[in-house]
Amino acid sequence: MRIDIITVVPNLLRGPFDHSILKRAEQKGLAKVEVHDLRPYGIGNQKSIDDYAFGGGAGMVMMIEPIANCIETLRSQRTYDEVIYMTPDGETFCQPVANALSLKENLIILCGHYKGVDERVRQHFITKEISIGDYVLSGGELAAAVVADAVIRLIPGVLNDETSALTDSFQDGLLAPPVYTRPAEYHGMKVPEVLLSGHAAKIENWRFEESVRRTRQRRPDLMGSSAGNEGGKID
Ligand code: ADE
Repeated sequence: MRIDIITVVPNLLRGPFDHSILKRAEQKGLAKVEVHDLRPYGIGNQKSIDDYAFGGGAGMVMMIEPIANCIETLRSQRTYDEVIYMTPDGETFCQPVANALSLKENLIILCGHYKGVDERVRQHFITKEISIGDYVLSGGELAAAVVADAVIRLIPGVLNDETSALTDSFQDGLLAPPVYTRPAEYHGMKVPEVLLSGHAAKIENWRFEESVRRTRQRRPDLMGSSAGNEGGKID
């Protein structure tokens, strides 16, 4: 998979992809993230990328021309499955969206700034609009990093233990169960007996019940859906 991120603040995205899982994904040739500075595509001597809003009002608007030129340059090099715009009024990002995006080959992510982009960019170039939650960030960069991380870790081979992405919270519509490691007892605090039993079926059953309990307690909104309730296991 290849993700091309278009931004006016490339420095904000220098860090996240140089570390841990994402770095390894790149080294293994499974994912590549390229950050593109929009500024060189700007207009005139100043390389302007934004202008005042027609009709007045506070805040600058990102112009269509630099964005169109940048996207067209990328498109001349390969075909893209989606051109995503990060915006607080987009579709709320969630695990099923991450799963679907992880199956794509090439993605462009455009990060919004200031008051956002000229509406014609959204109408003519963008195929998907994503919000990472009901709050407003200073720009789409951190949101783009969140999406790229959630998607890249799902690509087969990126995680060492491939099954671990499958047992993440939300993958089956439930929150993940509690986990423990050594020591089995710390100052009187004990690990649940069943996890030390070596009995695989009992352990699996315990984990499922704990997932249900945790979801019911913390995210009752998830319990109403069919997610995690195939065959009516949860009432
Ligand atoms: N840009 C600003 N706020 C955002 C959000 N919540 N999600 C995605 N992009 C954004």
